[in-house]
Amino acid sequence: MNRTRRALLATTTLVWMCAVVAPLASSHAQGQPTPPPPTFGIGRAATAEEIAARDIDVGSDGAGLPPGRGTAAEGAAIYAARCASCHGKTGTEGPNDVLVGRHTAPGFKFSQDPALRRTIGSYWPYATTVFDYIRRAMPPAAPGSLNDNEVYALVAHLLAWNEIVAADAVMDATALPKVQMPARERFVADTRNTSSTDRTGQAPSGQSPLPKGQMPDLGRHTQQDDKVPLFDFDAYFLGRWSFEWDMPEGPLGQAGRAEGTTIYTKTGDDAYQALTEATGPDGTFTVKESIRYQREEKTLTREVVDSRGFSYTQTGTIGGDLGGFYTIYFESTPFLVKGELVRLKHAMRLTSPLAYRVSTTVSEKDGAFRNYGTPWWSKAPAAQ
Ligand code: HEC
Repeated sequence: MNRTRRALLATTTLVWMCAVVAPLASSHAQGQPTPPPPTFGIGRAATAEEIAARDIDVGSDGAGLPPGRGTAAEGAAIYAARCASCHGKTGTEGPNDVLVGRHTAPGFKFSQDPALRRTIGSYWPYATTVFDYIRRAMPPAAPGSLNDNEVYALVAHLLAWNEIVAADAVMDATALPKVQMPARERFVADTRNTSSTDRTGQAPSGQSPLPKGQMPDLGRHTQQDDKVPLFDFDAYFLGRWSFEWDMPEGPLGQAGRAEGTTIYTKTGDDAYQALTEATGPDGTFTVKESIRYQREEKTLTREVVDSRGFSYTQTGTIGGDLGGFYTIYFESTPFLVKGELVRLKHAMRLTSPLAYRVSTTVSEKDGAFRNYGTPWWSKAPAAQ
């Protein structure tokens, strides 16, 4: 191909592209897109039966459970015929998800120990959800093919196999919500916005009202210029928290688990104290923090005195976005532990009104920061 011909081809391509792009560009330039028509003239209103067939969700409190009943013995026969091929003869062999098994080890270390299996007995917080899930999703090739009595029977059987109910238990709409699942206390309600309350802001029946998140529920998508409210320290922190920290070997002591409580109290205008009493691998210790909160500046300072023989000052900035939760980043001044220079950084993520997580890093002798564990603090709703 000679040079002129190549240049000509290139020009033609360019002209053609402009022809395609031009109409789009000009309609954009004229401003508003044309509004959509009121209807597209397709589809029809769903019938009451069609809605009922899909409106099968069951609440954690049992709301929406259908009439019917089933025994564990009936469930065993249905399981053998319709579930065992994928979940194993005793619910433990697979090839698909293991359904049966309890863990007696303390803690809830699914993220740290890949050998732990998430089963109905070890992980599910509500028996009512097992019903909902099996009815809507199992067996995968024919979801919806089990009748309500069969689902009750399968749930009774799986709960009995997990040693949560007696082998002769009968499950129905009254019995199922009363079953206490072993992992129930391992979960906290997600109260950001109004997700765990209904549209009237009421907590589900039978539960004490839960604290609300501080992010407002705008009832619409957030926009760029929406303001994040200033963090309300009193509403969030005041009260008693408990924590667990799996600490690696480091300047503050041996590796191992530290556990204890932290109590936040107000000592003046925007002034607070946090007192931590804990037991760790080297014995008991206390940490006293005097905290000042500069609300408008979105900063915190804290003076920390640790009974393990050191103290330091930290300043922190509070960030947050309307999509979720606040974060506080603390950096410490250098301090001495047994003659060596140490610095700590704490990234506190306030993931719910009842829980925060603190990613901690440490630097020794002016070296690089390394991971020093991610302890959890949590608060019981009753302590509010
Ligand atoms: C064809 C294979 C197959 C059959 C048959 C089958 N399942 Fe499943 N089951 C699966 C798979 C795959 C998953 C995981 C689905 C996922 O994670 O999305 C699953 C997940 C589950 C879970 C959730 C497990 C967990 O802890 O996350 C339960 C409970 C369950 N099945 C119960 C049943 C019951 C009861 C039956 C019989 C009515 C049944 N399954 C039949 C393949 C099967």
